Amino acid sequence: MNFDLQLKGQRALVTGGTKGLGAAVVKSLQEVGVQVMTTARSAPDRPLEGVTYVQTDLTTAEGVSELARVVKEQWGGVDILINSVGGSTAPAGGFAALDDAVWLSELNLNLMSAVRLDRALLPAMLAKGAGVVLHVTSIQRVLPLPESTTAYAAAKGALSTYSKSLSKEITPKGVRVLRVSPGWIETEASVTFAKRMGAEAGTDYEGGKKMVMDWLGGIPVGRPATPKEVADLITFLVSPRAASVSGSEHVIDGGTVPTV
Ligand SMILES: NC(=O)c1ccc[n+]([C@@H]2O[C@H](COP(=O)([O-])OP(=O)(O)OC[C@H]3O[C@@H](n4cnc5c(N)ncnc54)[C@H](OP(=O)(O)O)[C@@H]3O)[C@@H](O)[C@H]2O)c1
Repeated sequence: MNFDLQLKGQRALVTGGTKGLGAAVVKSLQEVGVQVMTTARSAPDRPLEGVTYVQTDLTTAEGVSELARVVKEQWGGVDILINSVGGSTAPAGGFAALDDAVWLSELNLNLMSAVRLDRALLPAMLAKGAGVVLHVTSIQRVLPLPESTTAYAAAKGALSTYSKSLSKEITPKGVRVLRVSPGWIETEASVTFAKRMGAEAGTDYEGGKKMVMDWLGGIPVGRPATPKEVADLITFLVSPRAASVSGSEHVIDGGTVPTV
């Protein structure tokens, strides 16, 4: 067996690729010879040479249209589309703290950004009869945490169902559709969060990390995943080496989800 992923020369669009998981995916794809375009609202602190950065807000229909326009103008289309953008800014306080504005904002970021972008870029893939679309979901779609992320978890649940339906429609036409469902990833943002939780409880980062792991009911491997570990899984799944994988969700959570 050799480990050539056969991705050299392919064109990939990764959303949310300036920080966290998206940035790791951009790097991982570039390392195996993929031409990468990525997006965020702000410019990256340390842009990678050779990567095209497009500044746009993907929570709006206009922002998605603008990105699709740039893709079509510069490349005509993409071979690989990775919808990594997502997250939650909802306040703590359970269901009562989530008003319509919060719900719509979580749905726009975690569901509609992908729905709109897929709709804009899939016709070119279908015309070629080839391509891969990947949606980054979350274990919260099966293990929701009610304190502040109910709307986020529900949006990821909808994203997952949408992704499955899309795969049934377009896999027979040559376009694979996949999901990757991470548990806790040790991104810069989650390190800052664990440090803050630790500091509030009078302990350090390791103490804060343990608190977050306890809230999740424990992580059997004993630590969160690194962004690179999740990016490597995504890179394999979008490669031709995974040509018979479609319609499935791939969990990478160190064993966090306690059920089958
Ligand atoms: N981190 C975890 O533990 C974890 C666990 C499970 C699932 N996930 C999922 O993994 C994905 C990546 O998460 P992450 O934690 O790595 O994210 P992150 O570190 O917060 O990075 C998010 C990226 O998306 C961009 N972005 C945010 N809002 C945007 C908007 N409205 N329009 C365009 N770009 C926007 C950000 O740049 P700007 O701020 O400059 O726009 C940044 O590049 C998400 O789908 C998340 O739900 C994460």
